[in-house]
Amino acid sequence: MSELLRGTILHTRWNPFLADAALEHFDDGGLLIREGRIAACGEYASVARANPEALTRDLRGGYLLPGFVDTHIHFPQIRVIGGLGRHLLDWLEHHALPEEARMADLTHAGRVAKAFTRSLAANGTTTALVFGAHFGAATGALFEAAASSGLRILSGMVLSDRLLRSELHQSPEQAYRDSTALIREYHGRGRLLYAVTPRFALSASEAILEVCQTLMQETEGVRFQSHLNENWLEIQEVRRLFPWASDYFGVYERYGLCGPHAVMAHNLHPAAGELERLAGTRTSVSHCPCSNSALGSGMFPLRRHLEAGVHCALGTDVGGGTGFGLPKEALQAYFMQRLAPEGLMLDPVKLLYLATLAGAEAVGLGATAGNFEVNKAADLVYLKAPVESPLAYSLELAESPETKLAAILAQAGPETVREVRVEGEMVYRAEAA
Ligand code: GUN
Ligand code: ZN
Repeated sequence: MSELLRGTILHTRWNPFLADAALEHFDDGGLLIREGRIAACGEYASVARANPEALTRDLRGGYLLPGFVDTHIHFPQIRVIGGLGRHLLDWLEHHALPEEARMADLTHAGRVAKAFTRSLAANGTTTALVFGAHFGAATGALFEAAASSGLRILSGMVLSDRLLRSELHQSPEQAYRDSTALIREYHGRGRLLYAVTPRFALSASEAILEVCQTLMQETEGVRFQSHLNENWLEIQEVRRLFPWASDYFGVYERYGLCGPHAVMAHNLHPAAGELERLAGTRTSVSHCPCSNSALGSGMFPLRRHLEAGVHCALGTDVGGGTGFGLPKEALQAYFMQRLAPEGLMLDPVKLLYLATLAGAEAVGLGATAGNFEVNKAADLVYLKAPVESPLAYSLELAESPETKLAAILAQAGPETVREVRVEGEMVYRAEAA
């Protein structure tokens, strides 16, 4: 059976940083879903005419966008959102790590995992690359919640064996054992994929980085995620701990922890040569502007990344970041680029790309999701402005697709998210107002 969604469609066909006319827009659009895939995307009248058997669901007055993709977020950190007034290392010690230690309690972890996956879906996020917990069982709880949620989740157990808190450490042997068990259980199961996840070079010995390398080599398709060049104190300490490395990225590179399946969060302060090597290895960077602002970590040199050819996408970095919404994250990226001395003017089409297709590409799912290309999975969000809301009035006035998109990105919070689907399957539906 095929289903035809009727509403205003907005998506990016390709990377707008590389080629113009990326935005495709149908005011009275039709999105045909067959067996979980996009079967057609166009004007409603013509899609309906060509597919008379399709059942129409009338969502006029609402907007159909590709599901958002969050390329950096921490599952155990929901309850520490909003810890303002500290820089990274202080914030970790006083806010994030005490809560991460509580993940030793599996009941607590299970409860947080459910709240976490529900919050992703309620904000229109259909795919997320997620830092798990430092405990195998709690990371398993996240995968279980993810499997029940229907979302596309890439995640892994967080590995550390020095500094931070000793309750969060694993021996390299235990890190290998627990990670391998999780990979066997969850990698490739349904919409789940495993991501090898050393917290950051600062809290990783060479032995545990070697374990990461082995894990990456042993299983096809496993992803990699970590943090890079976020905070000056962190960077100085990494240089001291790894005197043989040319720079921070050089630590990961030494163990092969880079490449098209790797995503590094932040990279606010790249050293000379690092951007070229990130680009050369096709390693992606997750830009998390709300977190960068909240922790005072710095301004993201987006222009330099793009000029060097580094692929960039967006991450919310909850709980250093301040919420699950990718539209809010995109808006903050825009704000920061406006204020940065060498900032790049971002338009709404580029912001939509960063929040959708760029993310899918960063996590190695560019051929599967991120836009409404025919044959891709039907991962989408249906947004509708609440009656008499400022957004509803802005959309009434907006004439061009770009202006509508700008109004949505500037104002759309979770109250606008009506339905979210992954492979056509409903993973979230707002209660009727
Ligand atoms: N670097 C290492 N751990 C973290 C974390 O939890 N949040 C952020 N923002 N940076 C980190
Ligand atoms: Zn982070």
